[in-house]
This record gives sequence, structure tokens and C-alpha cells, in this order.
Amino acid sequence: MFARAALLVALGLQPAAGDCPSWGKPFPSNLAGLDKISFANLYDVTYYDQYKVIEYSATLAQYHPSWHPEASLRGTRVPPMVLYQCGTTKPTTSMPGVPSDARFFEIPVKNATVGWGGPLAFIELLGVSQSIDMVDIRTISSPCMQLLEVCYPETHIPTSLPDWSANPEWTNRAGRTDVVFTDASGTGWGGDATKDVPFLVSLDPGSLSRAEWIKFMALFYNEEAQAEHIFEQVKADYNALKAVGDQLRTDASTEYNGAQPKVIFVNSGTTNTVANAAYKTQLITDAGAQVVPLPAVAPAGCTFSTNTDGTKTMRCDIPAGDAAFTSFLAEADVIIDESSLWPDYDPAKYRGFATIYNVTADQVPALARNPPNIFRLDGQVSDAFGDGNSQGMSWLDIQQSEPQQALAGLMEAIWDRDFTSTCGQKYLWRVSNPSAQNVVGHQGCPLYSAQGQNDCQSLHGRLHVPPMCSAGNVFEPLETTTVASQEASVACRVGAALSLAAVLVPFWA
Ligand SMILES: *[C@@H]1O[C@H](CO)[C@@H](O)[C@H](O)[C@H]1NC(C)=O
Ligand SMILES: *[C@@H]1O[C@H](CO)[C@@H](O)[C@H](O)[C@H]1NC(C)=O
Repeated sequence: MFARAALLVALGLQPAAGDCPSWGKPFPSNLAGLDKISFANLYDVTYYDQYKVIEYSATLAQYHPSWHPEASLRGTRVPPMVLYQCGTTKPTTSMPGVPSDARFFEIPVKNATVGWGGPLAFIELLGVSQSIDMVDIRTISSPCMQLLEVCYPETHIPTSLPDWSANPEWTNRAGRTDVVFTDASGTGWGGDATKDVPFLVSLDPGSLSRAEWIKFMALFYNEEAQAEHIFEQVKADYNALKAVGDQLRTDASTEYNGAQPKVIFVNSGTTNTVANAAYKTQLITDAGAQVVPLPAVAPAGCTFSTNTDGTKTMRCDIPAGDAAFTSFLAEADVIIDESSLWPDYDPAKYRGFATIYNVTADQVPALARNPPNIFRLDGQVSDAFGDGNSQGMSWLDIQQSEPQQALAGLMEAIWDRDFTSTCGQKYLWRVSNPSAQNVVGHQGCPLYSAQGQNDCQSLHGRLHVPPMCSAGNVFEPLETTTVASQEASVACRVGAALSLAAVLVPFWA
């Protein structure tokens, strides 16, 4: 065993199928025999001795009915998955709980294609980036994942190139990996449904429960304890901020004099749009504010449509619906303008709220305020990459994994002088201050070295530390001793010291 491991290291070979990766965690033996664990109504997990069965929700977790690149999958349910421990025999459909249409994945995953930035943020949080074979750097914004691509340039390939997926199976890059993390619309689709794992975080309506998708990613790496530990701290931090939001809501000393401020996310393209996604409404409410309510009946020039999360979108034609849209904007204390966010994130090219929505400060109090309460979502973007000058925007790839940071920033925007978080503003910038946008490159990763000696090795094992945003909250790493005794000796501290068992109970109770 030692000789073989030494040989693999010496030759730089990858372990063969069946072998466990040297860095991989053992199967979580303490979870077998428990009842089914349901997450966010989008998927269930059942544990057996050496395998886990993941079943996507039949109604919610479907391949997109019109956008998925593979026509035969459109509108169909994502089939179940059996994740079995490396070194054990692949389960058969005659074994307990294994569905007849299951797809099989050996875990911990050794070789993964990451089709977009959403799953990548969770891979980084769990410290399992060793397994990444391929990711498209053009749309990611994490400094350390950008450094990953500097350290291992072969990792990067644009999803648009034929090498990503269009070649015959096994010769294309996605085809040679063991799993391809995509989404319901097939972002980063690798051409092989048996390896496709839609990471449905964007379909999850809850702000906090989106962060809980760390538990989905953890299933593929036996990192359940780590995921639970990280999520519990994110949740504690988020709820501490929410409690502050609750106090500010009725605080007569704020600029709103105790009246609950109204906030809205708007967009402008061929129409002017209000998109009340459930997670945005939740962030606004948890910040101590309220969403500008949509009228019961669509006003003149405007129409309503229903979103997958059950919320309504209002679209107002230009110019037929301008009057209605302007009176809607007039109700807001704080406006987040999502118009023209992609692909160009240069603040200097922002045309200005008044121009975009054809309104004046007289009509819109948020615009009249000094400084104006108009914000943009591209507060953090990556530096430009490649000929196309592509940039990633953190709101799209990282934000779902850190609702505490998103909430803290939104609270800073809404409450201004009356609230400051300990993690600072990240996703929002006030349009009156274009220099507030933060452009982050691989140089922003702590493992980067200006002398060219990047610590690429540590990048792989690195556990990312999520930001903690409420006063007095500090992230506590999961304490482990030796790898062999990891499961037994793991200690999860959230605020006070808690045993793993005590922390684990609530998520299936
Ligand atoms: C993934 O597998 C391919 C083909 O065997 C190999 O060339 C590549 O180095 C592997 N990548 C990782 C991250 O192990
Ligand atoms: C802006 O609104 C005014 C009316 O308030 C209208 O006359 C004008 O055509 C509009 N401009 C554009 C570009 O829609």
C-alpha cells in the first residue's frame, strides 16, 4: 500500500477507479439507518452502510422545459443518484433503496467538471478543490478559484469550446470526468446525462436555505460534518443580523423615523421589470424593511407573470407602462437596479438611473435623497479575463453560499448611518460612488505570492472561511485530530462548544 501510494505520487498519476483519493474522508457511518432527510423540498437523502441515495423532488427538480441543451431531457425529472464509497462494490438495483433508474457515482468524487460558479463556491467552502478537473474561469469571481486556474492552467476551458462537451464521449473534457455539476438549464452541460448533477441552488426559494446547499455538495465528498458545521455558523450569523434588523424596523431614531422602509429590486431592458424572487423578498424582510408591494391588479401598460418560486413578476411596457412604473418607483426608499449587469460591469458605463428609467428626482424620492438610495449588484467582480475581457460577478456565483454577507450588505445600504456590519459591504455599490466597486483578481487570494511562489499546494487543502458579519461572531473551524479518528473526534463549535450529535439533530428532526 505504501509502495503503491509512493509510486502514484512519484509519477503524478491519478488513482484508478475504485481507489480512494488520499485526501478523501471516510463514509459517514454514523448516518446509516436514519430516516430520510429532506432538504428544501428539492431533494431527499437516505443513508445505507456504504452508499447514499439522493432523490430529487419529482415536481420541483426538473430539467428546464425549454432551455436545456439536450432536447430529450427538457421538462423531465432529474433521475435519482446513488453515491457509493470508493473501494466498495458498486451497488445494484436489487440492493435496499436503490431506484431502478439510478445513476451511480463513486465518492469521494475524484474528478469533477464544474459547469458554473454556483457549485464552485461550495466546493471552495468545503476545501475539496483537489477534485476539480475543469471549470470555466470567465464567469467566476472568487480570488482563490482564480488562483487555482493560475496554478493549474489546464483546469480552465470555456464552456463554449467544443472540447468542453461536443466531442464524442470520453474524448471531450467533461466526458472524462466522473461528475459534471450543472443546473436545471444545463449551464456547463457535459453531453452525458449519466454524469450530470444539476446543482439546483437557484431554484431554492429561501435565502438561508440556499446556503444549506453546502450539504448537497458535501454528499459527494463525505463532508457532511464539515457542511453541517459551516451551515450552523452561517445560520447563527444570519439570524443575529436578522435580530438587529428587527430592532431597526421600528427604531424611531433612524432616518425613516420608525416607519418600515420599502425596498425594491428592478430591472430595465425591453420592458421595465420588478422581479420579486422569494429570496430577495426574504433578504429585504430580514433586513428589517419591506418590499414595495405589487398592486393587486396589473396597472395600465403592465402585465404579471408567475415565477417558479410562486412569486409574481411585473413587466411594464415602454412607454405605455411608464406612468405606472414611475409611481411604483416613487414608493421605494431604497432601489436596487439590476439593469444591464451583464456582460459589462464597468461602473463608468452605467447610464444613470434617471436615464434608464426615464424619471426625475422629483418623481422618485430614492433618487432625490442625498446621496441617492440607488444601488447596483456588481459590487464585487473578477478582473477581466481573456480576449473577450470576461468578468465574473460575485452576486451570481458566491452570494448564494453566504446569505449572511448579502444580508449584512443590504442592511448597510438600507440603514446607512445606523448600521455597520463586521464583514463590510460586498455585493452592493451606491451609484453615486462608482469607485466603491471592488475588482478582485487571483492576487486577492491569501496564497498568492507577488514573488511568483504561489502556494498552489495549500490551495487544494484550503478550507475557505466564510465571512461572519454580526458583532462578536467569529468563524470557528471544525476541530479534527488525525484523519483516521476524524469522525469520532470531530468537534463543532457554534458560539459555544457543542457536540457533533447535538448539532446534527435539528436538520432531520
Ligand atoms: C481527471 O481525469 C483525467 C483523465 O484520466 C486526468 O487527465 C486528469 O488529470 C484528472 N483530473 C483530476 C483533477 O484528477
Ligand atoms: C420619457 O418620458 C417622457 C414623458 O414623461 C416622454 O415624453 C418621453 O418620450 C420619454 N422618453 C423615452 C426615451 O422614453
